[in-house]
Amino acid sequence: MERLQKVIAHAGVASRRKAEELILQGKVKVNGKVVKELGVKVSPSDKVEVNEIPIEKEEPVYFLFYKPRGVLSSVRDDKKRKVVTDFFPDIKQRVYPVGRLDYDTSGLLLLTNDGEFANLLMHPRNEIEKVYVAKTKGIPSKEKLKSLEKGIHLEDGKTAPAKTKLLSLDKRKQTAIIEITIHEGRNRQVRRMFEAIGHSVLKLKRERYGFLTLQGLKAGDIRELTPHEVKQLRALAQK
Ligand code: URA
Repeated sequence: MERLQKVIAHAGVASRRKAEELILQGKVKVNGKVVKELGVKVSPSDKVEVNEIPIEKEEPVYFLFYKPRGVLSSVRDDKKRKVVTDFFPDIKQRVYPVGRLDYDTSGLLLLTNDGEFANLLMHPRNEIEKVYVAKTKGIPSKEKLKSLEKGIHLEDGKTAPAKTKLLSLDKRKQTAIIEITIHEGRNRQVRRMFEAIGHSVLKLKRERYGFLTLQGLKAGDIRELTPHEVKQLRALAQK
């Protein structure tokens, strides 16, 4: 189920804000009845009309994006910072990110216009494995990394078990490169996990999402997912 204004926007009829106006003006019908409230949700089988004309569903599209640092995981920004959709100027569909990476985090981000797919992947129950590489300030001890693996208390609760691997360290600069695998997707989770053991994250990159990697891509690159990859992701989330 999706919000009516979102469905109208995705059909390319109007922006989401304009769609809200159309609803409030009584110009939208769902299954033949005028709907004037904004909270209404519709399913793919509902017939939506705007000004008596049935809307066409946008064809679903799925992209893998190598987000550079310094880009917001959003479709617009009031402060005029760069946003992920600035990298998709030639696509007529209105895509948006599946979850988010922090402004200063680089790496693998999926974008789609398929709301059901995005919700499925983001649902906490579906726990898709994500692999990050973090550069930390200071070199965390084995014990501290173990505590991350077991789960650590953050202000929004204990984290689920994780995996960590010390990839390299620089004794002179007192930094370490650590691979961390998590299943959850809480806000700033990796940064907060390292902060909780006393090591701030200087740099962070998401290298893997389920079976998807950044292989062959450089920062700012985009590739379309294959239909098979989309199917595999659905299956992974529903497992
Ligand atoms: N964890 C973080 O701290 N930041 C991200 O962008 C993703 C995961």
